[in-house]
Amino acid sequence: MHRGDGIGPEKLSLRDDTSLTLALPDEAATLALGAALAPGLKPGMVIYLEGELGAGKTTLVRGLLRALGIPGKVKSPTYTFVELYAISRLNLYHFDFYRFDQPEEYLDAGLDEYFQGDGVCLVEWPDKAGSYLAPADLRLRLSVVEDGRSVEIIAASAKGGACLRCLTN
Ligand SMILES: Nc1ncnc2c1ncn2[C@@H]1O[C@H](COP(=O)(O)OP(=O)(O)OP(=O)(O)O)[C@@H](O)[C@H]1O
Ligand SMILES: [Mg+2]
Repeated sequence: MHRGDGIGPEKLSLRDDTSLTLALPDEAATLALGAALAPGLKPGMVIYLEGELGAGKTTLVRGLLRALGIPGKVKSPTYTFVELYAISRLNLYHFDFYRFDQPEEYLDAGLDEYFQGDGVCLVEWPDKAGSYLAPADLRLRLSVVEDGRSVEIIAASAKGGACLRCLTN
């Protein structure tokens, strides 16, 4: 997949209507997937971005933000835990919990409040917040495959399912 291409059905491996696996052969493909997710975002949606260090989580957020009109470098919120983007129709919060030593830091930092409103929450390293974190609508599980990446996208709610269908239609 390259910039400007849609995600054609031939690029999708659809397991059932709640999950799909997609090959991301290069960085442009990860950016394009982020961009393809943008139109399906709904207020209050929670998206987990899972995968090892360097799997492409921040790259995907960068593609999504570019599609929403926020250009340039996306600062990884590793040290601040959260970065806010206000886009005309919604607030978008980008989290990275990698540096939590324990899940309680999520509550100590008051981050749970962000998950109670209408903002879209994109979360890198969601497992570091343990069971305190709000459940996901959509989970993106990125893996390194040779020089590229693959991603499994799992819809975990009706809202997530609608977003997944946006990708395939
Ligand atoms: N599909 C891809 N194929 C090859 N390289 C990729 C792909 N997607 C992203 N990359 C590259 O992987 C590197 C790491 O990406 P990124 O910072 O997005 O990872 P991350 O998952 O956010 O890592 P971290 O856990 O450290 O936050 C970047 O150099 C990026 O260009
Ligand atoms: Mg990152």
